[in-house]
Amino acid sequence: MRADRFDELFNHALGAAQQRHLRRDVRVFEHAAPGRSLCDGRKILNFCSNDYLGLSLHPALIARVCAHVQRHGAGATASRLVCGTSPACAGIESRLARAKGTEAALLFSSGWQANAAVLPALLQVLGKDTQVYVDRLVHASLHQGSRAAGIHQIRFRHNDLDHLEDLLCSGAGRPGHRIIVTESVFSMDGDRCDVAALADLAQRHGAFLYLDEAHATGVLGPDGMGLSGLAPGGVDLAMGTFSKAMGGFGAYVAGSRALCDYLVNTCSGFIHTTALPPAVLGAIDAALDLVPSMQAEREALAHQADALRAALRSLGFDTGASSTQIVPVLIGDESRALALSRVLEAEGVLVPAIRPPTVPRGTSRLRIALSAAHTRADIDRLTRALSQALETVA
Ligand SMILES: Cc1ncc(COP(=O)(O)O)c(C=O)c1O
Repeated sequence: MRADRFDELFNHALGAAQQRHLRRDVRVFEHAAPGRSLCDGRKILNFCSNDYLGLSLHPALIARVCAHVQRHGAGATASRLVCGTSPACAGIESRLARAKGTEAALLFSSGWQANAAVLPALLQVLGKDTQVYVDRLVHASLHQGSRAAGIHQIRFRHNDLDHLEDLLCSGAGRPGHRIIVTESVFSMDGDRCDVAALADLAQRHGAFLYLDEAHATGVLGPDGMGLSGLAPGGVDLAMGTFSKAMGGFGAYVAGSRALCDYLVNTCSGFIHTTALPPAVLGAIDAALDLVPSMQAEREALAHQADALRAALRSLGFDTGASSTQIVPVLIGDESRALALSRVLEAEGVLVPAIRPPTVPRGTSRLRIALSAAHTRADIDRLTRALSQALETVA
């Protein structure tokens, strides 16, 4: 018997996605060097990796990963509350809390899992009548967390703090706590929120501030440890990942001791999963050593991003409100974004087309992610390829 009895349903859904230019397929890439990959045996200039500082291939991370595996083995063997909390794990959490300026921090398996699991745990103690104010462009994992918590989001216009304040004021008479959920750097737009102003707003309205620092960690803020450092004590929960600029894998949540102790006791995604393995902890540990001293790389990255935006804008491209290493080229139509991405790839330049549901309908785009390792020549090649692609696709 073949397990294909339901394939007609799956194929029907796939066909519908294909027709709308929204089908996705897994492809294989080999990472050759920061900003460069091999695809189908061909060298390609990579502008879609989140390895912003090139740490995934850094010798110090690789050496620490090997040392941890040789000393502690391949797996963590158990969940955190059983016997999965190794000295390395506890040590990293203490270092993280110091680096984020919080009382405590906790490791999670991934950023997606942290967001999907922490929000429901928070809502459990804040209560079902909590008003949850969410920037409309936050990451899918934060929407997943809201769905899992069974709450109705109150969405504010992207990075529009006046709109957020209006909504907070109009909900002022309602019972229940308030929580504001947003990101410090938006993954598909490359713009940032005003963390100090948000912290002030949250303080004035008695709201809990939840900040996703996935794309800021390693790149922005004091010592590169994210933008929450710009509002000391103003962010109630800062979450971030080690899977992007930190070059490895895993995620963290930083906040008060009571918050972390509460999550240890209630958050299913922390409790009911195996702890991060030694290899991953080794990479995190080495990245935490390196990142504070990588100011020159951060400056180079910011400089290249400025140069890229200026070049793209002079060619008439719309890069939105990007002010970081993530530079979108707003296209609009899904099929056109896809066609441009394909032409670029044929020219040896990898820039993905980002389409709904990752971004709102009608805002499909090319998402350029820079690495500190990209050179001025790489950026020139990208802008030339883009302007040629535009002619081809037009
Ligand atoms: C804003 C944001 N939060 C969370 C995540 C999930 O992080 P991870 O890849 O570590 O699961 C991502 C990843 O793309 C992200 O962009």
